[in-house]
Amino acid sequence: MGVSGSGKNTVGELLARKLELPFYDADDYHPEVNIRKMNEGKPLDDSDREPWLKKLSSEIRNWIDSGGAVLACSALKESYRKLLENGNEGIQWIVLRGSHDLIYDRIKKRADHFFSSELLQSQFDTFEVPEYGYHLQVEESPSILADRVFSLIGLQESGRIGLIGLGTMGKQLCRNLLRNGFKLAVYNQDEGEEKGTVNAFVSKYSNEGKLRGYTDYRSFVQSLESPRIILLMVKAGEVVDLVIEGLMSYLEAEDVIIDAGNSFFKDTERRQRYLKENGIELIGMGVSGGASGALNGPSFMPGGDDNCIDMVYPLLQITAAKDNDGKACVTSVGPGGSGHYIKMVHNGIEYAEMQLIAEIYSYLRQGMSNEEIGKIFKEWSHGESDSFLLGISHKIIFKKNSPQEFLIDTISDKAGSKGTGNWAVESASELGFPASMIMAAVNFRMISNMKNIRDRFSRDLNQDPREGDLMDIGSLYKTFHWARIINHHQGFELLRMASEAYNWKLELAEIARIWTNGCIIRSALMERCAEKLKTGAILNDPSNFKWLVEAEKEVIEFITDSAEKRIPIPCFSSAYNFWLAITAKNLPTNLVQAQRDFFGGHGFYRKDDPHGEIERLNWDD
Ligand code: 6PG
Repeated sequence: MGVSGSGKNTVGELLARKLELPFYDADDYHPEVNIRKMNEGKPLDDSDREPWLKKLSSEIRNWIDSGGAVLACSALKESYRKLLENGNEGIQWIVLRGSHDLIYDRIKKRADHFFSSELLQSQFDTFEVPEYGYHLQVEESPSILADRVFSLIGLQESGRIGLIGLGTMGKQLCRNLLRNGFKLAVYNQDEGEEKGTVNAFVSKYSNEGKLRGYTDYRSFVQSLESPRIILLMVKAGEVVDLVIEGLMSYLEAEDVIIDAGNSFFKDTERRQRYLKENGIELIGMGVSGGASGALNGPSFMPGGDDNCIDMVYPLLQITAAKDNDGKACVTSVGPGGSGHYIKMVHNGIEYAEMQLIAEIYSYLRQGMSNEEIGKIFKEWSHGESDSFLLGISHKIIFKKNSPQEFLIDTISDKAGSKGTGNWAVESASELGFPASMIMAAVNFRMISNMKNIRDRFSRDLNQDPREGDLMDIGSLYKTFHWARIINHHQGFELLRMASEAYNWKLELAEIARIWTNGCIIRSALMERCAEKLKTGAILNDPSNFKWLVEAEKEVIEFITDSAEKRIPIPCFSSAYNFWLAITAKNLPTNLVQAQRDFFGGHGFYRKDDPHGEIERLNWDD
């Protein structure tokens, strides 16, 4: 399905040939009156279409009974699709998507007759894009599109997809896969607190035998057809190695494991080497979006062998979130452990984004009620700083335990973490990149855990943060947006540096695109980053740069006022200090160099000869 000119007939015919099924063009089923009307140049209305769609629906029933068929039909409205379905089970919707301009250009090139752009626009206006179905971009050639659908159907029809780990994320991803027509074999251990997990899940979701459950590796692996595809949805770390060891004796060459947890990228590369010795491929895949993302469409960041990713691509494409253009939020990001690296940096950006919101919250608390703060966050959610994290923050702040008590006021301020933020900091240091905002956010979580010390010193000091007049909310909003730009700049530049260091050839704009939906750091700003990164770094963009220069005064006001009120805002401060340093021609590190030389004879370069000979001074002279 798709608008006129999307290529549904061409793709449909190619697909039908590959599947050895008959192909039908829905336009051939119009009743006489409709044909006459169309020939007279009159548009069809919904009542004209009804008998046509009903006729097609009964044909679909016959085609299903006789083994299937491929039908090309625009099916632009949900009501049309409902009429086509009308109790017919097993329809697989393939949705062809493309921009108006692209499709119009194609029609113009193809058609030897006049085709009006307005007519095409009216099809776009009518199109109620379904949230279900397999969405494909018509930028790709019809034969690639037909291949994609063919391999999707292959994955659905052949053996089962294996999934290990029925934690919250694993369960939701299972439901997503089942809904999209896959047959699944799931494994979970059956001991302790996890006793009965598999049985309970399978009996709840076993639609027509599409789901089978196992509690031993052998029968689990044997239930899958070769080459097997096994998704690991288990806790990062040692558990991944244990599961791989458990599976090892039953797997065969060409089987594929997808580690969809937050594994450390160097562990992924070690496992890839180990498995490769036995001909088994490991895709290290970042997955973001939490439980609701796993169910309704997450962002997938698969890294590893390209052919292997290609093989599972349709599965990821159909289950992933869709961006604004209907493209799936998945791309083959790069080789080796790059998928997990990218997820690690995603989480680093996530840490800093969360910290910035928390810092604004702590500032506003000095002069506003929770209700007022929640309202401000809600308003901001409609502007250029709209983000998933801001959206959840206002819901959190409004949440009450009782009419008098806000939940937020009863939550302990010790922040946990599972390690990805710390790894991002470590990696940045290893590569020599100043990811100062991620570092500030990680440090702040650490300080939050020094509860006893904080209690003691705050008692000794006996000074609460000072309440008082707050800065103008519009200016504060600008400050927030300002720091977010720096955060995104740092995150993507860290990726750029890693890409060069590890020779991954990452496409930063494409990575930003797959982060525009499904994931935790999706936002209006990320959509702009996806555009800006096509031409270079975020700060290299002249309009961004100009805006940062102009809004600097608001940032200074916020930092000054926070300091006067004794409110720690390390993430904003590090953003500002990064900006000050990165825009400074001269830094005081000439003194650092001299000090290094003084006590350690490490040498220094002269300003007038920065690439020349290193000089060492005898400081005692
Ligand atoms: C996501 C999240 C997810 C998880 C973080 C939490 O993208 O869906 O990032 O992976 O919530 O790992 O990390 P911390 O526990 O370290 O905050």
